Amino acid sequence: MSSGVVVALAVVAVAVLGGLFLVTTSRRSDRNAAIGLLARETMQRDRSARKSAVTTDVAFVATPLTGKEVERAARGTDVAVIDRAPALPRPPMDVEQLGVTRRQFLNRSTIAMFGVGLGGFGTALLAFLWPPPGGGFGGKVKVGKLSDILAAIDTKKEPVYVAEARAYIVSYPKDSLNKAKKNYAGPVLTGMESGVVALYQKCVHLGCKVPWCGTSQWFECPCHGSQYNRVGEKKGGPAPRGLDRFAASVDADGVLTVDSGQRTEGPPIGVNTTGQEAEGPHCVGGKE
Ligand code: FES
Repeated sequence: MSSGVVVALAVVAVAVLGGLFLVTTSRRSDRNAAIGLLARETMQRDRSARKSAVTTDVAFVATPLTGKEVERAARGTDVAVIDRAPALPRPPMDVEQLGVTRRQFLNRSTIAMFGVGLGGFGTALLAFLWPPPGGGFGGKVKVGKLSDILAAIDTKKEPVYVAEARAYIVSYPKDSLNKAKKNYAGPVLTGMESGVVALYQKCVHLGCKVPWCGTSQWFECPCHGSQYNRVGEKKGGPAPRGLDRFAASVDADGVLTVDSGQRTEGPPIGVNTTGQEAEGPHCVGGKE
């Protein structure tokens, strides 16, 4: 797994943990708000009101005093004593019965939007970093039978362009292999030994797509005039090296595969393994 994927997974994990923290914190504060921890004064008022209500109720249900008893009480002798009923315990409030408050709704909406946005960002990041499983640029692209590809290149006198890999397939001459072994290695050299080079279409100067020039039989960049020979070695212009290239391999059935996820930087200025010079007028930067 590449470092980019590891970083992406770490970002997503931190984001998910952050989201969980926000959700749990919000739910706790919602619950506290719902059961009224902030309503201490209100609860005190309720207690007072309940006491007076009980007193009133008891006074109401107690046996009314007779006229003589009222007179005796007024004289200060024999005051009537009324027993108070014990305070009724208040049943605990059911959070579910309280429903969703406006604050809860806003908190949950904010968290939901945050989670959806974060999830979308994480998914897009993973999709960007993850190599496509079934071909396409960034993955392995099956081009076709090597013999057919070499025949097409030879007949048309031009490279085979593979849009899916954003690459040109050019032939590599067998008699240049000794020089190639001194300047190339790995899967690029393996492809050369099979007779092909897979060149990335992007100019190594500032990234323009480099077209093939049929007259000079070179690649010539229209943006600032960089020139590369048939196998992508730098010949002129401001490019700092030859064209980058992809790993190319041929399986037992003779099918050529280009791995556009495995790119190698082009050779340094001065490398010219084939010795190919321009074979006609240039398309860019004057005539031969
Ligand atoms: S981008 Fe090709 S020469 Fe500048």
